[in-house]
Amino acid sequence: MASNARVTPGAPPVMVRVAAKVNLALGVGPLGEDGYHPLTTVFEAVGIYDQISVSARSDDEIHVSVEGPQADLVPADETNLAHRAARLMRERWAGSDLGADIQILKSIPVAGGMAGGSADAAGTLLACSVLWDLDTGPDDLLQLGADLGSDVPFALTGGVALGRGRGDHLVPVISRGTHHWVFATAAEGLSTPQVYRHFDELGGAGGELMSTALIAALTSGDIDAVAHRLGNDLQDAALDLRPELAEVLRAGEEAGALAGLVSGSGPTVAFLVPDEATGRTIATGLAELDQVETTRVARGPVPGAQLLPGTLQARM
Ligand code: C5P
Repeated sequence: MASNARVTPGAPPVMVRVAAKVNLALGVGPLGEDGYHPLTTVFEAVGIYDQISVSARSDDEIHVSVEGPQADLVPADETNLAHRAARLMRERWAGSDLGADIQILKSIPVAGGMAGGSADAAGTLLACSVLWDLDTGPDDLLQLGADLGSDVPFALTGGVALGRGRGDHLVPVISRGTHHWVFATAAEGLSTPQVYRHFDELGGAGGELMSTALIAALTSGDIDAVAHRLGNDLQDAALDLRPELAEVLRAGEEAGALAGLVSGSGPTVAFLVPDEATGRTIATGLAELDQVETTRVARGPVPGAQLLPGTLQARM
């Protein structure tokens, strides 16, 4: 595509904050010929954030660096989803001579079923569109996101949304009130394709997981009804691959969580809790378990990828 890109020399980095997600409901259909499973899912963005910082380069290279406690688990080469996002954005919307340094400050658990890689891709799309001064509108970003991965469009929009197709066809959902969450992460991640494969091995799609009742509960703000309607068709596959997660689920529910479920393809376990104080107590208890690497307390819903203050003013 012809470039209208303009890079301000010496401009400060463009910084974006982007949230993790949890699937409140994840209904998985039979494997399609495209290698994907059709989904009906309800996403919620939760307040665990990666920060993406993008600066211009004088050459055409794209470099990624990763910081944070799990940085060594994330490849900083061209396989990183943020690297792919910048390349795709450049190929479709900018001049090939543009480069970028992309710094990722990682806080979202890596390979944890919370869409951390997708969040980084979404953050990079937004940051590069500003850095390179491109005419990409929200729909253009969503299209680029869908081409990068099924969870990237939701990482751009955030909030609460119903996802169909691969999870990338989104409809916003009204959700009243704040949800309090505890997340228990595992020492070793799970690969999403592996969990979907195991889902097929275990017999694949069951009945369609109905999200209508969940959406009604979200709209009315009835937290007990929301807790009652949480569900994940991938949970049995994740538990079969990691049986110890069942003990984490039991421990959280016994400690006072309203409900627990495996987040996405796992292995992070998510607990909806009545309030923040109870959440902190549950998190402290879960952190004692051998099966748990760390615990995090977060609220949802929160917005999707957002520019951090100062970024725009500094460039005008
Ligand atoms: O699109 P994304 O990169 O997130 O998906 C990673 C892998 O997860 C896919 O290659 C596919 O094996 C599996 N997947 C699936 N059905 C989906 C989403 C992902 O089978 N709806």
